[in-house]
Amino acid sequence: MTFLTRSTFFFLILSSVFNALVISSDGDSSGDGSLTWDQAYDKAKSIVSRMSLEQKVGLATGMGWEKTLCVGNTYASIDPDFPSLCLQDSPLGIRFADNVTAGVSGITAASSFDRSAIRQRGEYMGKEFRAKGVHFQLGPSIDIMRSPQSGRAWEGFGEDPWLAGVAGRETIIGIQSQGVIATVKHYIGNNQETNRTTSSSIIDKRTLHEVWLWPYARAVEAGVGAVMCGYNRFDGIYACENDYILNTVLKNELGFRGPVMSDWGATHSTIKAANAGLDMTMPGDILMGDGLTFFGPNLTKAVHEGKVSEERVTDMSLRIAASHFKMMQDKNYPKTTLNTFNRTDAPVVLVQDDHDRLVREMGSASVVLLRNEDEILPLGNDFKKIAIIGSNAGPIPEGLQGCPDQSCGNGHLAMGWGSGTADFPYLVTPIDGIKARMEDEINVVHTFDDYDLDRAKDLASSADVSIVFAMADSGEEYIVVDGNNDRMNMSLWHNGDKLIEAVSEASDNVILVINSVGPVLMPWIENKSIKAIVWPGLAGQESGNALADILFGDVNPSGRLPYTIAKNAEDYPAHISTHSEVVYSEKLLVGYKYFDAKDIKPLFEFGYGLSYTKFEYDDISVVAERNGANTKVVTSITINNVGSVDGAEIPQAYITFPPSAGEPPKLLRGFEKVYIKAGDTKTVNFEFTDVDLSTWDEESEKWKLAEGQFTVHVGASSRDIRASIPFTI
Ligand SMILES: *[C@@H]1O[C@H](CO)[C@@H](O)[C@H](O)[C@H]1NC(C)=O
Ligand SMILES: *[C@@H]1O[C@H](CO)[C@@H](O)[C@H](O)[C@H]1NC(C)=O
Ligand SMILES: *[C@@H]1O[C@H](CO)[C@@H](O)[C@H](O)[C@H]1NC(C)=O
Ligand SMILES: *[C@@H]1O[C@H](CO)[C@@H](O)[C@H](O)[C@H]1NC(C)=O
Ligand SMILES: *[C@@H]1O[C@H](CO)[C@@H](O)[C@H](O)[C@H]1NC(C)=O
Ligand SMILES: *[C@@H]1O[C@H](CO)[C@@H](O)[C@H](O)[C@H]1NC(C)=O
Repeated sequence: MTFLTRSTFFFLILSSVFNALVISSDGDSSGDGSLTWDQAYDKAKSIVSRMSLEQKVGLATGMGWEKTLCVGNTYASIDPDFPSLCLQDSPLGIRFADNVTAGVSGITAASSFDRSAIRQRGEYMGKEFRAKGVHFQLGPSIDIMRSPQSGRAWEGFGEDPWLAGVAGRETIIGIQSQGVIATVKHYIGNNQETNRTTSSSIIDKRTLHEVWLWPYARAVEAGVGAVMCGYNRFDGIYACENDYILNTVLKNELGFRGPVMSDWGATHSTIKAANAGLDMTMPGDILMGDGLTFFGPNLTKAVHEGKVSEERVTDMSLRIAASHFKMMQDKNYPKTTLNTFNRTDAPVVLVQDDHDRLVREMGSASVVLLRNEDEILPLGNDFKKIAIIGSNAGPIPEGLQGCPDQSCGNGHLAMGWGSGTADFPYLVTPIDGIKARMEDEINVVHTFDDYDLDRAKDLASSADVSIVFAMADSGEEYIVVDGNNDRMNMSLWHNGDKLIEAVSEASDNVILVINSVGPVLMPWIENKSIKAIVWPGLAGQESGNALADILFGDVNPSGRLPYTIAKNAEDYPAHISTHSEVVYSEKLLVGYKYFDAKDIKPLFEFGYGLSYTKFEYDDISVVAERNGANTKVVTSITINNVGSVDGAEIPQAYITFPPSAGEPPKLLRGFEKVYIKAGDTKTVNFEFTDVDLSTWDEESEKWKLAEGQFTVHVGASSRDIRASIPFTI
């Protein structure tokens, strides 16, 4: 068969299995000269067919923790030759390397609601990983924020699957456009750090498909090269040896053709894991650093004993080799020049180029303006003296690399902690950024002491405006900072609430800047002295500059919350569980869907964010067409910038399903970032297809187009709906 017929054949099979839910089964959207999976498999077969069992096992086995240049390396094959592949953290940049960019975190990229910026972020990361000779970037994390206190939620894209799907897709396409394999993680139900290696996530199949699997389905469509299974159990069985989630769902139902690798140390068996669909054990060891392995000789032995078929091992190596060939890593791939465990041994390879500019742009594009009374922002010339208050405005006292994996939890917060980090080459703190942008005649006073409330008050009362900086941090399980990996509470760290209250007594021009991994409680929210609240997330190395761009009005804010900020911690649908079974009893009501369904008013809703200008929406229209198996619904809306400054608006489209579908009140199904000059008007179209309008049918275990009357709502947030219009399918 020629490539074309095979591809078509494959598509037909998949289409019938998936009930029209797969957009492009062959994952060719990455373009940029990468091969299709079929082409990649042809190349992989021609080499793997010449490998011995031991050579094939080698491709699937990590060489061991701290034994190689990268956090993980596979064994190379000699005659036929296939290289050792290098796998390296993290979702936001290269971990354990020098002269690399440490940019905005996933959660902050998501709050830009800006597809092209997210794509560019993927591209520059891909360039850096490639230039250092890394074959697999261990990212993006596309896990959804289940509980706002979840320690690693900041690595991903927030509480909504549709948003995570789009952000994941753009990141993957960006990374893979550079020939680097993107690895989506942590498949699946790995949504808290507490008991992460022992607990079991219990998720019904409909919820699994409509919420937790959704971003993975979009990643497979985008041609993602690798998937990492998580530490947790799913339905009692470890994710990395779970036949249902690996074989049935990921490989058969979604049609994923690349390798599944274990999270580091997440493999628990040889035969069970291999037969359930695990393709690569990382970093190889049974327990990190023990030099033993469930694959390697154990896997070879299992094949000899007939417990694992050789075809299964061939499939593992084909998947790995195909992923490598798909990205064309056999052509001029740079050799690995980082040295994870002996940094001083690594040659200096500069890869940062002008990526600082992108990080700064993305940082300002991601700032969410939560409040702006009396148009106190942008800061004008009437402020001659500014007080900057709080340790979050200043440097990290321990130094940039003073604590392992960014776990200081002190000073300015521009990244959470754990394996999802990179070393800052430098960090522009808020005070640096603000000073760099200020006119000479402005006087700045500051304190980084969060506990000396009298000093804070003195400074505040002496200044025209006070900017108070506070933060809340979290990170990965293996490091505990002040009792946290998952956050123990939802309050600000370091006396933040008391500091804010003190300053609000001393000044009636208070601006808050809160850098946080996720939502925080705001007990001071009613205080009228607090004129503005600025929410920049985790902005990376250019944090202070990106913030100054917003404070001084060089950039008009357009960021939006990728999660709900509630009034009370109890208002959320899900919390960190200490039980061995983590039951996802909120089912489809994740994030804002729960607040909508239960009619709970949040403080700041999903999708919320202000601008320095004003937008009005009008003329909504909708056209629904059903053509055989294809459904297409197009909604248009006109948006006017009626204010006096240019700026970008983020109209969002939410869909209410027919009541018989049993869906939450509304679901995000579209957003667009549109730049509109003051006084101008633009028309925005949203297109919805079968994927957007279907539900997972538990009886047939298939996606099924909902039928009846839908409503599409377009607005500036999930609760600021400006126009709604029904359509029928
Ligand atoms: C490269 O990184 C090293 C180690 O952080 C640093 O000392 C050096 O200044 C960097 N070189 C450049 C050109 O940035
Ligand atoms: C094979 O796996 C077993 C656990 O099932 C382990 O005890 C043994 O050390 C492994 N062998 C090698 C060579 O790693
Ligand atoms: C790291 O590299 C240096 C310089 O080559 C070498 O002297 C040292 O032994 C290495 N350390 C380790 C732990 O491999
Ligand atoms: C919340 O946790 C942070 C970090 O551990 C701590 O600084 C703060 O005091 C705690 N707040 C409350 C109200 O418990
Ligand atoms: C809140 O605002 C009022 C008026 O702006 C002020 O007098 C008061 O002290 C502030 N602080 C607190 C903690 O209520
Ligand atoms: C789960 O975590 C809690 C809190 O850290 C701990 O008390 C409990 O023993 C853990 N349970 C299991 C099954 O590991």
